[in-house]
Amino acid sequence: MKGRITVICENTATFKGGIGEHGFAAYVETERGNFLFDTGRGEGLILNLLKFDKDPLAIQKIFLSHGHHDHTGGLASILEVLRGVDILAHPDIFSVRYNISRKDGKEVRRYAGLKFVRPYLESLGGRFILEKGFREVTREMFLTGEVPRKNSFEKGDPRLFAEKDGSLIPDPFLDDQSLVIETPRGLVVLLGCAHSGMINILNWVVEKTGQEKIFAILGGTHLDFASPAQVEETLKTLRKFQVEHVGVSHCTGLKAAARLISEFGEKFFFGMVGEAMEF
Ligand SMILES: [Fe+2]
Ligand SMILES: [Fe+2]
Repeated sequence: MKGRITVICENTATFKGGIGEHGFAAYVETERGNFLFDTGRGEGLILNLLKFDKDPLAIQKIFLSHGHHDHTGGLASILEVLRGVDILAHPDIFSVRYNISRKDGKEVRRYAGLKFVRPYLESLGGRFILEKGFREVTREMFLTGEVPRKNSFEKGDPRLFAEKDGSLIPDPFLDDQSLVIETPRGLVVLLGCAHSGMINILNWVVEKTGQEKIFAILGGTHLDFASPAQVEETLKTLRKFQVEHVGVSHCTGLKAAARLISEFGEKFFFGMVGEAMEF
């Protein structure tokens, strides 16, 4: 199908207006309706939707890439507008999660999970449709569900933890999923943070759809937190997919983005607030 994706929440705003925030959200317009993928951190969602003439009331479904606060923080504000909408996600979005790092020899622990409890979101009209697997959300549009981790070079971010049975474990991010759209020019893959690894995701998408042509990838790649060796291995493998548009941003970080620009040239664009891509 044909359509357009507009980045609504992202870390950086431009002359186009809107506000930047650490987070990600995108508005997906298609022949089969309009959808919201992630909701940013919370401050910019409604403001930026209106700024870019994206009608919040036209959102038919909300898709969540994972439970991190910078992708789910706008849920309450959009539910207050919509008063009843399906939210498609993986059951682990409700995991208790932390970002744990060290500063001056001391542990710094930040809560990183969903900042609303489920009953509150349901009281605002959110209808959670939680599934673990690959699923069709409308004709020619899919959510990847859990992504098998098959390669050896895509390692998880060592600062990210989740609670399991009362103790903290490296966050398995089983809830990390991407949106896939079949278009006449190939597949469009919309990433949240790609915690399962961008290459693992693309391989899974090819396996599940049976289509090898990837027209565009857009969203967060988490390469900002990957080792230089992992970034290089990712780029080497990404080249084989012959992607026509690489619109990554958010947790891609400027260093990895610079590498992507040198690698992909004109095919690269930084998916900042207000950037739109037609397919
Ligand atoms: Fe993120
Ligand atoms: Fe994340």
